[in-house]
Amino acid sequence: MHLLLMGPPGAGKGTQAAELVKEFSIPHISTGDMFRAAIKEGTEMGKQAKAFIDAGNLVPDEVTIGIVRERLAKDDCKQGFILDGFPRTVAQADALKGILDELGLELTRVLNISVPSEDLIARAVGRRICKKCGATYHVEFNPPKAEGTCDECGGELYQRADDTPETMGNRLQKYEESTKPLIDYYKKAGLYTEIDGRQAIGKVTKDLIASLKG
Ligand code: AP5
Ligand code: MG
Repeated sequence: MHLLLMGPPGAGKGTQAAELVKEFSIPHISTGDMFRAAIKEGTEMGKQAKAFIDAGNLVPDEVTIGIVRERLAKDDCKQGFILDGFPRTVAQADALKGILDELGLELTRVLNISVPSEDLIARAVGRRICKKCGATYHVEFNPPKAEGTCDECGGELYQRADDTPETMGNRLQKYEESTKPLIDYYKKAGLYTEIDGRQAIGKVTKDLIASLKG
C-alpha cells in the first residue's frame, strides 16, 4: 500500500500516520520529521532547511525531492509507505511520479485530511511532542496523563519552534498557494479521497482505515 497523506499544517497527518503504521505495518515518511532530525544532527542539509522552516516557508524543491528520492529507494518501501507532507508543490508531485516510475511502484491512494483553516492555528499552537519517541499530544484535544510527560515512554514534551501563531499564518498561506492545487492534481489522477478531519482523532482514524479497506 503506497499512500500519500495530505492536509494543511496541523490537520493531523502525523497523528493519523502513527495509527496507519500500527494497522498496516508500513513505514511513515514525513519530510518535516526528516528535516527536524537533520537540524538536530547539525547536518549540512539541516542547516540549509532550518531558516525556511523557522519562517514557515517551504524548503526548496531540489533539497526536498533529493531526500525523498533517497528514502524511497530503501528496501522497506517496496511493500508500502505512508508519505506525510510530501509532495507540497506540483513540481514535487511530478518528481514523485518520476521516482516511483523508476522504482516500478505506483501510488495506491491519496488521502486528504480536510480541516478548515480557522481550526488549524489552535491545533498547532497547543501541540506537544515527545523528545524521546516523537508521540504527538495536544494540551486540550489530546492531553497526556501527566502534564509535560509522554504517556508512552515518560519522555519530556516540547513545542515545535514553528508552532507559533505568526509562523502558522505563513505556513497556511504557503499551503493555499503551493499545496492546495495538488487536490485537483490527484483528483485528475483518480487517486483522491477526502476524509473529514474535524472529527475526533479516533473517528478520523476509523474513516481512514475504512476507506483503505473498502
Ligand atoms: P511538517 O512537519 O510536515 O508540518 P506541517 O505540514 O505544517 O504539518 P504539521 O506536522 O504541523 O501537522 P500534522 O498535519 O502532522 O498534524 P499533527 O498530527 O501533528 O513540515 C514542517 C516544515 O518543514 C514546513 O513548514 C516546511 O518548511 C518544511 N517542509 C516539510 N515538508 C516539505 C516539503 N515537502 N516541501 C518543502 N518544505 C517542506 O496534529 C497537530 C495537532 O493537532 C496535534 O497537537 C494533535 O494532537 C492535534 N490533533 C490531531 N488530530 C486532531 C483532531 N482530529 N482533533 C483535534 N486535535 C487533533
Ligand atoms: Mg506532522
